[in-house]
Amino acid sequence: MATESKPVVLSGIQPSGRLTLGNYLGALKNWVKLNEQFTCYYMLVDMHAITVRQDPAVLRDRCYEFLALYIACGLDPASNVLFVQSHVPAHARLAWVLNCYTQMGELSRMTQFKDKSQKNTDNINAGLFSYPVLMAADILLYQAGAVPVGEDQKQHLELTRDVAMRFNNLYGSPERPVFTVPEPMIPPVGARIMSLQEPTKKMSKSDAAETNAVYLLDDPDVITRKIKRAVTDMDNSVRYAPTEKPGVSNLMSILAATTGQSFDSIVTQYDGQGYGKFKAACAEAVVECLRPVQARYHEVRDDLDGLRRILRDGAEQASLRADATLKHVHEVLGFIPE
Ligand code: TRP
Repeated sequence: MATESKPVVLSGIQPSGRLTLGNYLGALKNWVKLNEQFTCYYMLVDMHAITVRQDPAVLRDRCYEFLALYIACGLDPASNVLFVQSHVPAHARLAWVLNCYTQMGELSRMTQFKDKSQKNTDNINAGLFSYPVLMAADILLYQAGAVPVGEDQKQHLELTRDVAMRFNNLYGSPERPVFTVPEPMIPPVGARIMSLQEPTKKMSKSDAAETNAVYLLDDPDVITRKIKRAVTDMDNSVRYAPTEKPGVSNLMSILAATTGQSFDSIVTQYDGQGYGKFKAACAEAVVECLRPVQARYHEVRDDLDGLRRILRDGAEQASLRADATLKHVHEVLGFIPE
């Protein structure tokens, strides 16, 4: 199990929408590899998810689905701490404390808040506003040194760093900082998976348009159809140029990530032959890459007791580490020890 000498990595995904090929290639697949070097905590952030309205039955089902997919993608619960945020009370408790050390002005500048409040004008709640504070608590509780996230979360990570440093300056000493100041771990451009129909936007799990994303649980014929209909361009050349040729470049990223082929070898193999053969290869590579994930998913998902046990163990392990940080925080604030 998790050894204490390794540095800590932590990340989370909101159990909303459906996990996509982008989540797999851009996040989950890389998370699996971090396991050797780091002690890894991966969570389902159900408390973040309720900042927008969720159907309770769907939310519950989705948490099990996402957990089963984490495992099917290779995250072994014996060597990664997999848990649900709401099972570890320290998250809400530290979030409260950090709310008192984060300024309204800082939170007003968050672009995700601005976007989401524009999209949900009838429910601009305080949770949506202080969402980044809960995220800071998630990270700082575990003294995580590195946080794998998408480019869109960089601003939240910067806020987390600011709050951590502010708190350390007030209550820590250079010998004993209260919090580890985390670094973001953002995948390089060529590894980012974009929308199939609007390739300048990221492939999102909560996109309203079905054809923008390949979902991890899509049937092979659906995957093939989506990729064959992906937006490209008119110049019929296969080369990597994300600004000029976002659609083709995205399919190249997908093919490279699913087969291990380099961009150069993709160009040599498919340039100058129209897009048909290139798209067919891409579709086949995705289908083959997801086949074992889907097979494993169904086995894992059918064992509900097993999933519940994994979450109980995960929450227990996570609490051990999180509670130690929370205790220290309460102590430096002057709260009477429990
Ligand atoms: N806000 C993140 C997202 O939408 C999810 C998240 C919540 C997270 N807490 C986290 C990611 C802690 C990394 C670490 O993608």
